[in-house]
Amino acid sequence: MKKAIIIGSTSGIGLALGCKLLTEGWQVGFTGRRAGILEEISVRYSGAAFTEKLDVTNSDMPEKIIGTLIDKMEGCDLIVVSSGVGHINSELVIAPELATIDVNVVGFTHVALAAAKYFISQGHGHLVVISSIAANRGDSGAPAYGATKAYQSTYAQALRKVTAKSSPSITVTDIQPGFVDTEMVQGDVFWLQSIDKATNQIFMAINRRCRKVYITRRWRFIAWFMRHMPDFIWHKL
Ligand SMILES: NC(=O)c1ccc[n+]([C@@H]2O[C@H](COP(=O)([O-])OP(=O)(O)OC[C@H]3O[C@@H](n4cnc5c(N)ncnc54)[C@H](OP(=O)(O)O)[C@@H]3O)[C@@H](O)[C@H]2O)c1
Repeated sequence: MKKAIIIGSTSGIGLALGCKLLTEGWQVGFTGRRAGILEEISVRYSGAAFTEKLDVTNSDMPEKIIGTLIDKMEGCDLIVVSSGVGHINSELVIAPELATIDVNVVGFTHVALAAAKYFISQGHGHLVVISSIAANRGDSGAPAYGATKAYQSTYAQALRKVTAKSSPSITVTDIQPGFVDTEMVQGDVFWLQSIDKATNQIFMAINRRCRKVYITRRWRFIAWFMRHMPDFIWHKL
């Protein structure tokens, strides 16, 4: 039986992907800060789901909790980093920027390193990073969010190179979703994708061991435009 741990799986993409993996016969370790939701998951999917409370900003915890889950599940083939926060901050207030960096950069790095080191030690495994389409270019609405997602994407690229030197059986996947219908997305946005469609495409990308995918696929065009649009147009949007 294949085994996965999803960091940030009490709601949204992480929770939906965890449930999808369970229906596909995987064992899944769920994590997040909301203990009540974790309790519900462990009761509902008793035997197949394992849960551990984890705040990724608590620097002592990510490596320890990932180790605890791996021991409980007696191994792990896949670790998905879906924990993340984003704050609209056109007013350029410092606190939300620092809070975003804390989770999406500092917490992310603890988790990604723990996962990479574990897979290097066992000689195989799959690390999946849920970054964002926002990684492609800095935007005015949420400066820290886009910058932290670019960090995650580049970090995944670096870990892909590090792990390739160690074993060809380790894969690092960068998933870049556009807008997905979760608690994180507020207000009117365009091309909002259902959580089911996004989850199915992420699951396919995992099975194919892709390096980088846009979710849904048509967001690759937006990514291209974001990267290539001249500043005089980008600054007007
Ligand atoms: N929805 C979108 O349109 C979209 C688009 C592109 C990328 N993404 C990315 O997809 C990922 C998942 O987001 P989502 O849309 O599914 O949002 P969500 O429903 O808000 O899920 C975020 C998850 O992160 C966890 N989390 C937040 N802070 C944490 C912390 N300090 N320690 C541990 N876990 C923490 C939350 O769990 P607890 O609150 O229980 O800790 C929750 O499980 C994020 O990285 C986000 O940036 C989302």
